[in-house]
Amino acid sequence: MKRVYIETYGCQMNEYDSEIVKTILRQSGYHITETPDNADILLMNTCSVRENANRKIVARVHEFRHAFQENDKQIGILGCMVTNLGEDLLDLPINFMAGPDSYKFLPGLIEKAKKDKLVHKKLSRTETYADIYPTRVDGINAWIAVMRGCNNFCSFCVVPYARGRERSRTIPDIVAETEQLVQEGFIQVTLLGQNVNSYDDQGKNFADLLQAVSQVRGLQRIRFTSPHPKDFPLELIEVIADNAKICNHIHLPLQAGSDRILRLMRRTYTQKQYMALVDKIRSKMPNVTLSTDIIVGFPTETWQDYLQTEAVVNTVGFDSAFIFKYSERKGTLAAKKYADDVPEEEKTRRIVRLNDIQKNISLKKNLAHVNDIQTIIIEQLGTKKSPDDCQGRNQGNKLVILPGKHHVGEIVQAKITDATAHVLKAIPAQ
Ligand code: 5AD
Ligand code: SF4
Repeated sequence: MKRVYIETYGCQMNEYDSEIVKTILRQSGYHITETPDNADILLMNTCSVRENANRKIVARVHEFRHAFQENDKQIGILGCMVTNLGEDLLDLPINFMAGPDSYKFLPGLIEKAKKDKLVHKKLSRTETYADIYPTRVDGINAWIAVMRGCNNFCSFCVVPYARGRERSRTIPDIVAETEQLVQEGFIQVTLLGQNVNSYDDQGKNFADLLQAVSQVRGLQRIRFTSPHPKDFPLELIEVIADNAKICNHIHLPLQAGSDRILRLMRRTYTQKQYMALVDKIRSKMPNVTLSTDIIVGFPTETWQDYLQTEAVVNTVGFDSAFIFKYSERKGTLAAKKYADDVPEEEKTRRIVRLNDIQKNISLKKNLAHVNDIQTIIIEQLGTKKSPDDCQGRNQGNKLVILPGKHHVGEIVQAKITDATAHVLKAIPAQ
């Protein structure tokens, strides 16, 4: 039996896709291994969203070839880099490539690639892998991709090119999968989509889907990522606010604070509209946890533009933010229209400064929870610092460290006693 090792880079959708790939290969008689050493086939599920993701993967391919020179392991590249760079990757010492919609062709590709280098990267308008039940790792959370692709074409983003057009799975199908997951012991699902607000099952929207999934008995928590601020209906806010199982955590990518930059990014909202949405969300969910994505150094971004991003960060007070330097992606609108003209040192200056500001805000937000009683689901026994502690998450998705013996999946009422910018510390509440 041939053994396959798979390494995953990038977002949660890629983690999910690797689980799909594992099932497809197992059904074709392959065995999945945990390390590359004893595998016959090495797969890398790749990300193309920023240049350093690409660089990491190219280096890893060479590392693999170097480490396993004497034997004839096959190396395959999967995912977004394949659709994004395609034949340009053929100079690498690899055997085959398969894009995000090509995984059902993998067994055939692996077989045929013994002779020639093969590429399958055609994107599909319909593939959702609804008929493949992913091979998930044990734990409390299971990912479910409820939709794939993106139709937004934000000017910086390679995703619409790498992953193709939007398509959704049906509500009955997702509910059935959730029921099966609960039977297997998962108590949380995270619904994934590039833009979940574009979810569409014959007129039924994302709020309808959340409501349907929340009715699955035994399920404790529902998370989702990510919505786009351009179309966040009040109905959806109300469904999240009114339904105890749906976590009050919203990841709401801002990208930039300046209206001029938002326009060049084709985000289709203004700073004012974004702030109004935050206010609307907070009026219905005063305790909501808000996180965001931000890009600094988009082409032509001046210091004044950047300060607008800072202003939004200060005013909103996000619980956390993922901040990135703009990275030009081949084929995107921004790459075609605008020179990547903010110098690297300037991007660094902005990202360091903004990360610093955010860290202080995160710390303040976390300290404000001291003395709260919160519901924590234990995810891991032992932490980096102590084998006697446990790690879990509150419903806002914040990491919480607790002393003492618990089991994975246990629901603990805990009192927050201290906090850093990244974690809350707690003791079981009496
Ligand atoms: N450069 C930098 N960051 C990017 N992102 C997407 N494309 C780029 C790019 N070209 C960021 C966005 C997005 C997150 C997943 O990655 O902030 O929300
Ligand atoms: Fe990229 Fe914009 Fe689609 Fe998000 S919404 S995946 S940033 S194009």
